[in-house]
Order: sequence, then C-alpha cells, then structure tokens
Amino acid sequence: MTRTRVDSPWRDRDAPTRGPDLFHVAITMDGNGRWALARGRPREEGHAAGAEAVRRTVESAPTLGITTLTLYAFSADNWRRPRGEVENLMRLFQQYLDSECARLTGSGVRVSVIGRRDRLSSSLKGSIAHVEARTHEGTALHLRIAMDYSAREALVAAASRFAGGIAPTREAFERSLSEAIHAPCGTRDVDLLIRTGGERRLSDFLLWESAYAELYFTDVPWPDFAEADLAIAVQAFATRNRRYGGVLANALGERASQ
Ligand code: FPP
Repeated sequence: MTRTRVDSPWRDRDAPTRGPDLFHVAITMDGNGRWALARGRPREEGHAAGAEAVRRTVESAPTLGITTLTLYAFSADNWRRPRGEVENLMRLFQQYLDSECARLTGSGVRVSVIGRRDRLSSSLKGSIAHVEARTHEGTALHLRIAMDYSAREALVAAASRFAGGIAPTREAFERSLSEAIHAPCGTRDVDLLIRTGGERRLSDFLLWESAYAELYFTDVPWPDFAEADLAIAVQAFATRNRRYGGVLANALGERASQ
C-alpha cells in the first residue's frame, strides 16, 4: 500500500515532544457489543473480533504515515461491566500481548501500555512488562494501549503533585501527567481522534492531549473497521485546516519567523 502523506504545517506547532514527522492517531474502539448483538452472538465474540481489528490496524498504521497510535482498550469506568466481560477482556489483552509480541518486535512496533497498573492482575502486568521490554527499540510505530485509563484521574494525579506549590509550567505539568499514566515518552498531542461505532463523545480519553485534535466519527463498528476505513479517516484529516486558534496568515508568519 502506498504511503499517504498527511503532513500539516500546523500540526506540531509549540510542541516540544513532537517533530514535523510525527502523526498521532488515537482511536476509541467502540461497537464490539452491538456488532455481536446484531449477529445474535455474545458480546465476547464482538471483543474477539475487535482484537482482530486491532491486529489489522496496527499493521496498516505505519503505511498511512501514523507514527503513534493510541488505542482505548479499557477505561477506568469499564470496571463497572459484568465481571465475566471484564475477565474476558483482560484475557484478550493478555493473549494479544503474548501472541503478538514476536510479530510486533519483528515489525519495529514499540508497545507501551498507559493507564493505571495497580488494578491489573500480576500475570497481565508481567505480559505488559515483557512486551514493553522486547519492543523497546521499535521505531516504525509507537503503539500505546490505554488500559484502566481515565484522563480525568490522570489530570487530577498530575495536578496533585503540584498542590500547595507554585503553578507548574506546561512542560512540568506534562511531565507529571506522563508519569501519572506511565507514558514512557512523555505526553503526545493527538492529531486525529477517531471513534468508531456511531457514538460522538470523548469518554474520558486523552482530554489534555486532544486539546487541538481533529475529531472523526464513523458509524462503522470497531470489529468491521478495516484498513480502508483508517485510510479514509486519515484522508479526511489531511483536508482539515488546523489553525491552533490563530488565523492562517498569522500562523504562517509566526512559524516562518521562528
Ligand atoms: C467498547 O465497545 C470496547 C471495549 C470496552 C473494549 C475494547 C477491546 C477490544 C477492541 C478488544 C481487543 C483489544 C486489544 C488491545 C487487543 P463496547 O463493547 O462498549 O461496544 P458497544 O457500545 O457496542 O456495547
């Protein structure tokens, strides 16, 4: 597949942890349950089909110029789901990490898991540590999987480090935020935030990092999300005019004079 150029002069303005070639796509993978329901199948089958969609998406992301891909796998609020579904999801995550580790390493994909670790089982934590260590050198794609993740919780945890002190600089706050979610490379501004499955909401995902994200919603349920759907989203992103609160001429002049 040909590489789609999605460079934008606006994307990386004012962003110390981002370079001109970085393109961060975040995806809320929604619609697994309804996908299964529509087929008269248990929700677990929807999640299993969702894991296949993860495999496909990770494979196609670098060919579309994506350098960081953050997938919302399990929110802090997802613990409210029935116990059986939660256990099934945790099993799926571990299976994915264990079974894909060699392939991800071979394709140069660096894997990180962001979110809280303390409520995950020790065997899942072991698989996470293993895949993070094995894939650490990968440069083709940084795959970040958000597990037990809550943007609000992370913001509160980051802010509480400064409580009683002087207001932090943006850089200090971002460092603290990245520690709060175990993100090894610091925070990453989201360029394109995709949500599948027809809903149009943020659901506590990357609230700080999506300050200037372009939003893209599709009715396609996550298990059906294919390479072509990702390519369409990336093409839609390429037509967006990102101004970061400025106007086009000013923004150009400002950048040219830096
Ligand atoms: C939301 O859809 C999806 C989830 C809470 C789980 C996402 C998990 C996967 C895609 C499984 C594989 C993931 C990895 C990282 C290997 P939903 O079940 O809430 O869908 P619904 O709104 O239709 O009920």
